Formats: sequence, structure tokens, C-alpha cells
Amino acid sequence: YICMKKNYGLLINGKWVKGSSSLNVLNPLNDKIISKISTANIEESIEAVNNCHYAFKSWSKFSAKNRSDILKNFYNLVKKNRKKLSEIITLESGKPIQESNVEVDYGASFIEWSAEQALRINSDVFESPELGKKLFTIKSPIGVVAAITPWNFPLAMVTRKVSSAVAAGCSVILKPSELTPITALELGSMSLEAGFPPGVFNIINGDPKIIGEVLSTNTLIKKITFTGSTKVGKLLMKNSSSTVKNISLELGGNAPFIVFSDANLDEAIDGFMMAKFRNAGQTCISANRLFVHKSVSNIFIDKLINRLKRLNVGDGMKSNDIGPLISDKALKKIIDHVGDAKKKGAKIQFGGNRHKLGGLFYEPTLISNVKKNMKVFNKENFGPIIPMIEFEKDDEVINKSNDTDYGLAAYFYTKNSSRVWKNINNLEYGMIGINSGKISTYLNPFGGLKESGIGREGSLQCLDPFLETKFVLWNYD
Ligand code: SIN
Repeated sequence: YICMKKNYGLLINGKWVKGSSSLNVLNPLNDKIISKISTANIEESIEAVNNCHYAFKSWSKFSAKNRSDILKNFYNLVKKNRKKLSEIITLESGKPIQESNVEVDYGASFIEWSAEQALRINSDVFESPELGKKLFTIKSPIGVVAAITPWNFPLAMVTRKVSSAVAAGCSVILKPSELTPITALELGSMSLEAGFPPGVFNIINGDPKIIGEVLSTNTLIKKITFTGSTKVGKLLMKNSSSTVKNISLELGGNAPFIVFSDANLDEAIDGFMMAKFRNAGQTCISANRLFVHKSVSNIFIDKLINRLKRLNVGDGMKSNDIGPLISDKALKKIIDHVGDAKKKGAKIQFGGNRHKLGGLFYEPTLISNVKKNMKVFNKENFGPIIPMIEFEKDDEVINKSNDTDYGLAAYFYTKNSSRVWKNINNLEYGMIGINSGKISTYLNPFGGLKESGIGREGSLQCLDPFLETKFVLWNYD
């Protein structure tokens, strides 16, 4: 399909460097090797950090206009290469090509927005309580940033972090997922063409444990920004405490999707399909538990099954709706969750098996009679399965929705405005979709409560996590 390179190096100080070893990147569709990437050992990772530190000294002195112009070039290159990037995303992640196109546009929007926000970094000046004094704050870039990104959005999670950091005047060392590193490496090439000075954006691949340890303990790195599992997030947080690093974490979710009795059911199904099946259910904000009011549950199940029957499962390159899962581990987890639910009395309303295509495909699956003691209720399934729970009372469904350690995204459908306000206040979630299954935009301060993370990305404040505030009291008398 595309001109993907056979081999990719590490991007260190503006140059492609051959690492000490290498790794094959596989297509989850058929397990075939699509490319080979260099991987870094401890010494090479430290060298990348040193170069990134060196680059920070000059990049932080570039004017905001200069940084913004370079980011705009980067945005234009990403848009120009939309087809190539989309195809790479699909080949390395299995995501349907139409979704990859949307991801490129979504990812590019963070670059454009950060380029604009670079021009709006501002500070406060206070009226002094005493005469003869000036009180004000100034903002300065935090320093070298380590960004660790997940496989499920190989482009958008990189641009959401890197473009805001670079716009703020930071230099970045990126460790993309070893499952989907090629999109990031192509972004690296485009960043050089766009005019990023050497060392401002470095990319190293390799063993996540080794590189994660270097990045979270190295004294030159001042900030870690991570998207991925809660387990790894906790480890990075622990390691980062040794050098008191600033840390932002976007971790797991267990999103409730609530359909109240007064909801427009057809609209709710449209919203649900969007919130559930994006990337075959492999997103942190995917609807993980479906709560439906008892009075409408039978009709809702019928309508939903009709939609599930129409989903095409298959090769993402052929515009199917659902591609393969990312790995054997992901498939095993789904099989385990469905088995556990069946054993504990849940009813499979639709699907419930590996797909007849074999490989890493799993059937879109609807499970009813779901109870609190089942894995499908408590854990993020990250796949095309729908655990459904009936409810009768508003308080009951809000309590059940909040009965989890996670707090990333929640969705609900209703036409009742007083219920809307109560739910907004009572749902313990960082992001809420009301009568909509789509909440992703560059304007969303993306992030969660509880064990879903710390900090926000994107939004009007997208540069703040990469800026320090200094307070100045100037006695000018
Ligand atoms: C995620 O799965 O964490 C990202 C989803 C998004 O940005 O829409």
C-alpha cells in the first residue's frame, strides 16, 4: 500500500541512529512482519536524554512565534501525508482505515491548536498590597519532557503530548509503544522536515521496563507524561518520586454508558456504537458497562442486536467496522472475562466467541445479567464486548457507575434537564458525554479522576502541564 521503510532507527539529536538491537513490528491482522525498528539499551537511552537536555537550552530561547511557525509546518506535513499515516496506523494497529483517517485529523488538530496556544502564554500582574512593590508571575518551560505513549492511538497520543510540550518551549524524548512505533517514527521524520532543531524531538524504542526506568529516574528529565495502564502509571509515579518529577498520567477507565427511560433509544444506540466500538473497543474512554433502564431494556436489546448483526469484522484496510485485537494477550483477556461472566450466571445475548475468521478477531458480544462480582463489571475489557446491567432508580445507577476505582469517562442519555444537572454533579468522572457518544476534541481537558490519572491534556490549558510559574516581588522604591 505505502512506502513504509523496511528499517527504522532511533531518532537522537536530529539524526537516525542504528540501535544496539532491533525488534520486528507485526501486523495484528496476520502476524506478518511489516517493518523492523532499532531498539535502545540503557546507554543509548541516556545518550538520547543528554542530547535532549542540550537541545532544551537553545529551544527554550526560541521566540513563541518561531516555535509556533515550526509547529504549523509540522501540522501541514501531517495533513499532507494523511493517506500514508492512516495506512501505517491500520497496518500496525489493525484499526479500520476510516478510523485511522479520523485519527490523523484528530492528531493533527492538537498540533495546530498547540501552535496557536504557543502565542498565548501569559502571566499575572497583581496590585501590590504595599506601596513601591510590583508583584507578578512569569511562565517558563519545565525542561526536558519524557513522553510515553500507548499503541491504541499511535498518532494522536503522540501529538497531544509532544506538540504542547514543544509549543511551551520544552524538548521531548518519546518512547512510543513497541507494538505501534512506526507512526511515531514517521512523525519524527516530518518534524525534522518541518524545522524542529536537532534534539528537540527524540524517539527511542525498546523494552518498556528498561526505558521506563531510565526515563523515570534520570535527573535531567523534569516531567513525565504517560498514557497507558494504571499498573504502569503507578510504577512510573513511584520511580519519579526519587527525583520529584512533575508527572501527568492518563490511565485506565471503566466507563458507564447509561440509558434512562426517557432517552431517545435510536440516538442512544448510535451514541453507544460510537462510544463502544471505536478501535474495536480498545480505547480508554470506551463504554465498558452499559446500564439500561428496566422499562426499556427489552426493546433496547433488540435494537442493539440488530446493529451488532450489521457490524463487519475483518481486515481494517478493507473498511470493515471491527479489526483484530492488538495481541494474543488482549484476546486471552476477553476470553477470560466472557468465561468468568458465563460461569457466574451472565447471559450471552449475542456473540460470545472467537470470530470465525480466527487470528485475533473476537465477535461483537452482548452480555446481560451482569453482576458486581464479575470481571466484566470491575475491569476494563478493552475489546468488543458489552456487559449490560438493568437499573430502576437514578441513585442506584449513579452509585453503581461510581462503584469502581476508575473515573475517566461517563456517558448518559436523557431528555430530563434536572436529571442532567444531578448526574453531572454526582458522576465521579473527568469527562462526561450527554446525549453523545463522542467526547474527543482538542478542546477537551482530557483526563480522569481517582485511579484514572493525574492532570489533563489538550484544551485551552494544553501548555500548562509543560510550564512552570515563577513568582516575583520587585521592590522598586
Ligand atoms: C485513549 O484511549 O486514551 C484516547 C482516546 C481519545 O483521545 O479519544
